[in-house]
Amino acid sequence: MAAQTADANTSTDTPDFGPAVALSCRECGARFPLGPSFACLECFGPLEIAYELPTGDPEALRARIEAGPTNIWRYAPLLPVPADVAGQPSLNPGWTKLVKADNLARELGITGGLHVKDDSGNPTHSFKDRVVAIAVQAARTFGFTTLSCSSTGNLAGAVGAAAARTGLRSCVFIPHDLEAGKVVMAAVYGGELVGIEGNYDDVNRFCSELIGDPAGEGWGFVNVNLRPYYGEGSKTLAYEICEQLGWRLPDQIVIPIASGSQLTKIDKGLKELIEVGLVEDKPYKIFGAQATGCSPVSVAFKAGHDVVRPQKPDTIAKSLAIGNPADGPYVLDIARRTGGAVEDVNDDEVVDAIRLLARTEGIFAETAGGVTVGVLRKLLKSGQLDPAAETVVLNTGDGLKTLDAVADKARPTAIIRPTLDSFREAGLA
Ligand SMILES: Cc1ncc(COP(=O)(O)O)c(C=O)c1O
Ligand SMILES: [Zn+2]
Repeated sequence: MAAQTADANTSTDTPDFGPAVALSCRECGARFPLGPSFACLECFGPLEIAYELPTGDPEALRARIEAGPTNIWRYAPLLPVPADVAGQPSLNPGWTKLVKADNLARELGITGGLHVKDDSGNPTHSFKDRVVAIAVQAARTFGFTTLSCSSTGNLAGAVGAAAARTGLRSCVFIPHDLEAGKVVMAAVYGGELVGIEGNYDDVNRFCSELIGDPAGEGWGFVNVNLRPYYGEGSKTLAYEICEQLGWRLPDQIVIPIASGSQLTKIDKGLKELIEVGLVEDKPYKIFGAQATGCSPVSVAFKAGHDVVRPQKPDTIAKSLAIGNPADGPYVLDIARRTGGAVEDVNDDEVVDAIRLLARTEGIFAETAGGVTVGVLRKLLKSGQLDPAAETVVLNTGDGLKTLDAVADKARPTAIIRPTLDSFREAGLA
């Protein structure tokens, strides 16, 4: 791979990836050494991290986690990072709030308990800080000097900020027509930001070409050549949800889908918690959420297909607008295996759901959160989600980045003169 640097080839030190032992192919199971690779040399399947997990003493593991920092590094024993990772430069994301959403539950008729995992509380206000934090560790280990990504918006900001904190150069790529909030968040940290004339799938294709070109040498693309490491960051959402529930698995989780990485890694995280004995083994259901205007996984799920047919996205949920999702088939497997489902909601339903969450719980979600809460509501109506089961819904991003989605529906109640008469005339007394 062109992007591998002299450091990784010549260093006599064995890189320290903690409990991670190999890269393994999701399709054929072939194993490869931990390096900056992402595709199987045997079958081109995606590579993921394989571990020797600490299964011996769950009590000791739980005590170690609970004594750790209040960020994702408390889960270092389950991540591809060295044990001393918490002392290294990082934005230190994670340990976001798990909000008991009783008002929303009442409104939706959920009796089994509802929680919102509110990941807008991360340093750059989306869950992407989690995945980037792990990818940055790997990038530094492999000696990459430039941090990069193809992004639907949030990832670009997370990479820019993490590069600034860790002293790396960054150059990130986005579709040219993203929301102002996403563009500003991506640019403000001082790295290079390139708008590409095309949609996310065009941006992603361009980045794949750049990786194979001398111009991309020394570049760590967090979601391409560092994807196996990057993906592991989403497991921390599963760990936190279970720990915040008192080391219990929820019954049902609703998760937004763009590439599908987050959903597949939350499932991986839940399975690992069972394997290491930190939670009791019981069934759980995973539900995926898409916008109708970009719903290739939902369409495949409903049609009973195993393959995902690419779409041309057209939705206000731009952060989820990936028409050809890399992990789509694995999402289908997980939804079917766990007894969950994949559903989609249209843009009006997205806006309604943003307002519903804000009105009931005081949480202002970006469009991706509107998609997820909208799908929660739709699945309850259709009877696919059990209202008597304990449910967690993810809010993965901040409404301040997608103000336009609700701007015409969230306006002053009245504009008045600064007089009591005017106040009364407006019918506010
Ligand atoms: C706010 C938000 N939520 C969810 C996702 C979905 O991520 P994934 O590609 O892992 O499915 C994204 C991806 O960009 C996002 O920005
Ligand atoms: Zn393979």
